[in-house]
Amino acid sequence: ELTTTIGGFHFNNTIMNGAGVWCYDRKELSAVDTSAAATFVTKTATLAPRAGNPKPRMAATDLGSINSMGLPNKGLDYYLQVVEEFHQANPEKPYFLSTTGTSPDDFGKIFTKIAASNFSGLVELNLSCPNVVGKPQIAYDFAAVERILTQVTGIYHGPLGVKLPPYFDLVHFQQIADVLNQFPLTFVNTINSVGNGLVIQDETAAIAPKGGLGGIGGGYIKPMALANVRVLRQLLKPEINIIGTGGVETGRDVFELILCGADMVGVATQLGKEGPKVFARLTEELTAIMDAKGYKRLSDFRGKLQVP
Ligand code: DHB
Repeated sequence: ELTTTIGGFHFNNTIMNGAGVWCYDRKELSAVDTSAAATFVTKTATLAPRAGNPKPRMAATDLGSINSMGLPNKGLDYYLQVVEEFHQANPEKPYFLSTTGTSPDDFGKIFTKIAASNFSGLVELNLSCPNVVGKPQIAYDFAAVERILTQVTGIYHGPLGVKLPPYFDLVHFQQIADVLNQFPLTFVNTINSVGNGLVIQDETAAIAPKGGLGGIGGGYIKPMALANVRVLRQLLKPEINIIGTGGVETGRDVFELILCGADMVGVATQLGKEGPKVFARLTEELTAIMDAKGYKRLSDFRGKLQVP
């Protein structure tokens, strides 16, 4: 029994894709939709379509991945249209639309458009893309987050969450939680990739943009994901649900994120390596762990990390 809820929406599983992987177009979204995944989130949509950064812009390694995609996407209108099609075909299944602005006046336009559309799922506002040249990760600027959420929540009244970057300092955890707790958010998704790492193969950077720098994902970042889920669960209002993302390779990793308080778990790097069949494997592995421990549902262990 792996059912979970986010803001009153019901899901028949607790594992989904992380934004960016297997979610670029109708075909990729369909493959996740028909897999064992609970649901999907779209590629982060910007107001206008974007080609993204020059290639090579993603590389997988034994321990994880590096990417500097630069928000390639088909534009907000496309994803609104496609999610509406999936919704029509599966009226009971809630879907996530990811979006972000690339300039300050984008946010009002984006959310005015979403509010005027038929969209009835959950919006994940990405405040953590590390890869647009010249643009900082928004969520490292707490005043900017407050400004954007003030504007967005004044326009859009549907279920809304934010995708956060990893924080590394306890003061920063408190500062972002204090901002987020002021708003009627449905969920927080933590963590996005660890920004601006460098992977070298022989004597050459693995990817081309930004002098080789890119967001690090996969096994490298699991301890940061666990800590961010754990501490934000302790600091955020209880009505804000948490999607835990970062470093999931096995059912054990899913189990640990839920133990830290995650209501849903995102998988990105490993989905890229393995394809949508990863969701059935992770589901089986998580179920085996729960069976061995006698846990019947996720609430039997969610948030119940023990500290010696
Ligand atoms: C991209 C990478 C991210 O980590 C993100 O949150 C959004 C976009 C990208 O480079 O496309």
